[in-house]
Amino acid sequence: MKSLFEFNIGAFLPPPGLPGSFSEITVATSRDPDPENVGGQSVVVIKSASTAVETSTEPHDIARELKILSGLSHTNVIEVLGHFTGDVNNALHFWMPHVRYSLTTLLDCPVFGLGTEPANPFTEDFVDLARSILYQLTSALAYLHHPSQGVAHRDIKPGNILITESGCVKLIDFGVSWSKEISPSSDCLWPEPQGSLCFDVSTGHYRAPELLFGARDYDPYATDLWSLGVLASEFFTALKQGNPDSGFDSDEEDRWHRTSLFNAERGSIGLAWSIFQVRGTPNEENWPGFKSLPDGSKVTFEDVPPVDLVPLLPNAPPGDHPTFTGSHSLPPETSNSPVDLIYRLLVYPPEKRLRAEDALRHPWFTSEPLLLPDEYPQDQSIPLAVKGRTDGRSLGDILATFTFHETFDPSYDDSGDEYEEEDEE
Ligand SMILES: Nc1ncnc2c1ncn2[C@@H]1O[C@H](COP(=O)(O)OP(=O)(O)O)[C@@H](O)[C@H]1O
Ligand SMILES: [Mg+2]
Repeated sequence: MKSLFEFNIGAFLPPPGLPGSFSEITVATSRDPDPENVGGQSVVVIKSASTAVETSTEPHDIARELKILSGLSHTNVIEVLGHFTGDVNNALHFWMPHVRYSLTTLLDCPVFGLGTEPANPFTEDFVDLARSILYQLTSALAYLHHPSQGVAHRDIKPGNILITESGCVKLIDFGVSWSKEISPSSDCLWPEPQGSLCFDVSTGHYRAPELLFGARDYDPYATDLWSLGVLASEFFTALKQGNPDSGFDSDEEDRWHRTSLFNAERGSIGLAWSIFQVRGTPNEENWPGFKSLPDGSKVTFEDVPPVDLVPLLPNAPPGDHPTFTGSHSLPPETSNSPVDLIYRLLVYPPEKRLRAEDALRHPWFTSEPLLLPDEYPQDQSIPLAVKGRTDGRSLGDILATFTFHETFDPSYDDSGDEYEEEDEE
């Protein structure tokens, strides 16, 4: 592998040792004269982790991640270009194209929203880009969840959603994913046969409520749908300035960030309570299966009703919002508002959440032209898909109007240090 790449030791993404990080990410430049050997890419990102059970944390498994990714092929799923097994720490390395932008930084961009000014010049761009990103992500999930793939991502969150310069979404990080073909096998570090899944998956406030009550016999696809609902809501919550909840970097006092519908700062029970305060305390009517979850009867929560989501989503484009039913039940009529889509994903009984395949046909995506990246495959089943606006601007042009930080600047070069595996750890 060393002969293929020029490693830039200063270019770790994110800084090594960042909490919650189980792998090492390196940006490298190919020095192979034949670009075909590295998938035609000059700048790649290498993900490395140990394959030894004693240095891995359940259910993280880079070998399973590589196996799952190698079996996938979709415009919105990151492509693996090659891999290598090192002898140090039984490390496995695989590389993929470097993708310039991350959804985390886009969501933290203060002008990416409706704005408080009545005539925010970015409003139309915001709405078009939000619809496109959420459509493309939903498309990735519909592909993964389809029985021919049978893959649940299990860690849907902005940090795992990258965006190319042309506005194409790339879902990354299949480190805790579940595959119906691969995960039950005893060859995996942490075999997970159906009915005996790990519930310590998904991150922070993106975690589905059944995971907070010890479910093992859960539907892993449905947990992705809940996370998708939480993520979709974050395009439309209020923007605040100040220290966001993760707050490990004290220089970030002035950083803009989106508020979340739910709060994971006080552990699983605190997160559950914050969910109940928005969607109502579970009962026999709104979630008949709740009491049969392993920990469903261990804690008694105060009985609180659900609240209307519309006031919590001030950046949702004005329009035909669903009328609040006053209960957990769905709006009776489907409307072309993103709030309607969010209501249909943030549903307690996992089997009642809107499936990704059906979410693609939600009127929010289909009732108006949907902007897609130039290279997006022509799919006749996407009604009203367009590659550019009538004024000639492409999705990439619209993305460029939002000045946000890059995940990594490939022009950065720190004196060309050579990568030495032995020095790591
Ligand atoms: N292909 C890529 N292009 C650009 N940045 C990447 C790429 N893959 C990973 N990253 C960056 O590295 C971070 C960690 O990678 P990820 O696969 O999510 O590992 P982990 O399992 O440690 O979360 C991502 O959040 C992203 O910022
Ligand atoms: Mg990640």
